[in-house]
Amino acid sequence: MLELIRHNIQLNSLKSRALSLELNWGDPLPQVVLDQKPNVIIAAECVYFEPAFPLLLQTLKDLLELNSEAVVYFCFKKRRRADMQFVKVAKKAFAVDELFDEDRPVFSRQSLFLFSFRNKTHRKLDESHVNMVVKRYHYVGWHMPISRG
Ligand SMILES: C[S@@+](CC[C@H](N)C(=O)[O-])C[C@H]1O[C@@H](n2cnc3c(N)ncnc32)[C@H](O)[C@@H]1O
Repeated sequence: MLELIRHNIQLNSLKSRALSLELNWGDPLPQVVLDQKPNVIIAAECVYFEPAFPLLLQTLKDLLELNSEAVVYFCFKKRRRADMQFVKVAKKAFAVDELFDEDRPVFSRQSLFLFSFRNKTHRKLDESHVNMVVKRYHYVGWHMPISRG
């Protein structure tokens, strides 16, 4: 996966603007992430292995604690009942909103979900920002790596 991300960065001439890093969920965030305090975090297709849920949750908590205005865009295809369990747990830790756009009926038929997770104290969404991200997300489809925003 990491190789593929590097390859994509190269193909898109993004070397000066994008960096690929390995992070095992639950591990301390790399220094470069601590320094940058990302404000947009995209997590696509990350709920398929239940034992890793607490580790993923910890990483998302660490990221949202770094930057009180950060937002996690969290998307997945629901394959098993347990997948929704992650959202249930996330609701206890974060302010969770389901995001909608004009293609929601199509996504629904395919059991595709898109949520935002934010720090509970910064619930209010900046609508224009959400629209921008949803559009970009729509263009690239479901194959997005976890990004530093
Ligand atoms: C189904 S892939 C999705 C990849 C990419 N986000 C996409 O949408 O194409 C799931 C990703 O979760 C990552 N992953 C699974 N368990 C992990 C863990 N314990 N720590 C870090 N990453 C993990 C895998 O490396 C993989 O990149």
